[in-house]
Amino acid sequence: MTILHIDSSISGEQSASRAITRSIVDQLRIADGGGDVIIRDLVSAPLPHLTLDAFADTSVLDEFLDADTVVIGAPMYNFTLPSQLKAWLDRILVAGKTFRYTENGPEGLAGGKRVIVALARGGFYDQGSPAAALEHLESYLRGVFGFIGIEPEFVAADGLAIGPEQREQSIKQALGQTTRLAA
Ligand SMILES: Cc1cc2nc3c(=O)[nH]c(=O)nc-3n(C[C@H](O)[C@H](O)[C@H](O)COP(=O)(O)O)c2cc1C
Repeated sequence: MTILHIDSSISGEQSASRAITRSIVDQLRIADGGGDVIIRDLVSAPLPHLTLDAFADTSVLDEFLDADTVVIGAPMYNFTLPSQLKAWLDRILVAGKTFRYTENGPEGLAGGKRVIVALARGGFYDQGSPAAALEHLESYLRGVFGFIGIEPEFVAADGLAIGPEQREQSIKQALGQTTRLAA
């Protein structure tokens, strides 16, 4: 098994999403008896904004296509994903490679791959809550991965900015879920 481990939090050791992706990758490796892990840290090694010339370099796309499982740390910044992670997605959504347009509409070509996303959000965005309309992280990632044929799995740590107790409880709950994901 080849796991592609992607992080995009700017918060280093304090990051909740990084702690959760680390735990997911560890649990997957224990369950699988090893496997290769490729780490792509989009903060220590950021990808530039997309340009037309950038399409000539398919290394980021190839790395994604070669992975069986992709584990992504996705903190919420300003109600959506970090621009570092968007720059990565801009290399992944490529017509003819991960999706194509047919007479019946768009068709995803990247199915068969497992994508697990560790969400970390300062607030709560449950359906029906006052902030639900501002949730453009989980909904966006569900949409773009669905577009290329993948139904992502999510582990969420929410309410992290509410206070220290809530933060500790949310991270503990999310870390607990990582065992279930690897089972
Ligand atoms: C620049 C920045 C913008 C943020 N914007 C939001 C936001 O719009 N909504 C929210 O719920 N939390 C927001 N937060 C809080 C983060 O989602 C929260 O701190 C989370 O823990 C980030 O993940 P991390 O710990 O992996 O870095 C923001 C944090 C930062 C640093």
